[in-house]
Amino acid sequence: MKKLGFGIIGCGVIHHWHADAIRRLADVADLVAVCDVAEDRAGAAAEKLGVTGYVNISDFLADGRIDIVTIATPSGMHADHAIEAVRRGKHVIVEKPFDISLDQADRLIAEAADADVFVTCISQTRYASGLKQLQEWIDAGKLGDLVYGEATIKWYRSQEYYDSGDWRGTWALDGGGALMNQGIHYADNLQRAMGKPKTVSAYAATRGHRIEVEDIVTASIVFENGALGSLTATTSAYPGFQTTLEIFGTKGSVRIENQEIVSVNFVDGEQYDSALLQSDTPSTASDPAAVGGYNHSLQFREFIDTVQSGKDRLAGALEGRTALEFVLGVYQSARTGQPVTFPL
Ligand SMILES: NC(=O)c1ccc[n+]([C@@H]2O[C@H](COP(=O)([O-])OP(=O)(O)OC[C@H]3O[C@@H](n4cnc5c(N)ncnc54)[C@H](O)[C@@H]3O)[C@@H](O)[C@H]2O)c1
Repeated sequence: MKKLGFGIIGCGVIHHWHADAIRRLADVADLVAVCDVAEDRAGAAAEKLGVTGYVNISDFLADGRIDIVTIATPSGMHADHAIEAVRRGKHVIVEKPFDISLDQADRLIAEAADADVFVTCISQTRYASGLKQLQEWIDAGKLGDLVYGEATIKWYRSQEYYDSGDWRGTWALDGGGALMNQGIHYADNLQRAMGKPKTVSAYAATRGHRIEVEDIVTASIVFENGALGSLTATTSAYPGFQTTLEIFGTKGSVRIENQEIVSVNFVDGEQYDSALLQSDTPSTASDPAAVGGYNHSLQFREFIDTVQSGKDRLAGALEGRTALEFVLGVYQSARTGQPVTFPL
């Protein structure tokens, strides 16, 4: 089968992971080009990766070797860039968040449907072995009826981080702070485990940074199935702690730290295979760079399989839209001081 050609738009922090993910898929994919409006960034990435560099998105999209475009530009540009790509017949992998507005997300989904191409949204933590195992247990009813789910992301980002890019920490292009940028992965994991949210009540504040968006947000959730939940995301928790996801059901509970299972308890005393607690994700304990694009590569491979199967063209895009709607519901409640009911 012919390898699929990849092109990356946006040569900043996350493009390194995209390039690494594509390198891990050498049997099915080739990176052929990168694009960035900043000429120095496009040039440096092209030289390092040994691919063609473009500063003009239109020229980049005219490159016939590119089958799949990954969007790694600031969040508020995602739908616009993805729409340009689907209009040129490219399949698209959009970094999270899918966009920062539901109208833009819906425009992209409609354009992709018209163009008959495949679109997905990155949610690489879903591909970590612990989260996949949790989902299998929930889907098989092993936890019984869900009672409560709690996700926390207590990270630390310095003021220098926010100052490192004009778009960071702005409503216009980041679309929010600790939740829209960092916490959205865990909002996504929480709603995937618990089911869709029905109502949310939230508070947000900016306590540790000079930014216009929040650096701490906390939300109480009622899910469609009647279970309750809680979500906290902050970038002001020095020095930064492990993320946690706890799911409690009538038949048992699971606790996850940094995407891997650390505790499982079934009411009927059933034992689980302790090998399931072993992560197959490369360890970052002594080498933070070890993970790199590993989980991205799992999602990229699944997307390639989907493209080749010809089915579920927009399934991943709709998942990205769901996570975005959850986050926007939290912001709406925090802004208005009122509970918010879904759909928005
Ligand atoms: N999945 C994850 O865990 C993860 C991690 C980090 C970032 N991200 C997401 O990736 C996206 C980029 O984040 P980042 O930290 O790499 O940002 P960044 O600022 O480091 O990089 C963005 C790049 O886009 C370029 N750019 C801006 N406008 C452009 C245009 N019109 N055409 C082409 N290039 C353009 C900029 O010059 C810059 O090089 C964000 O949406 C962020 O949420 C995801």
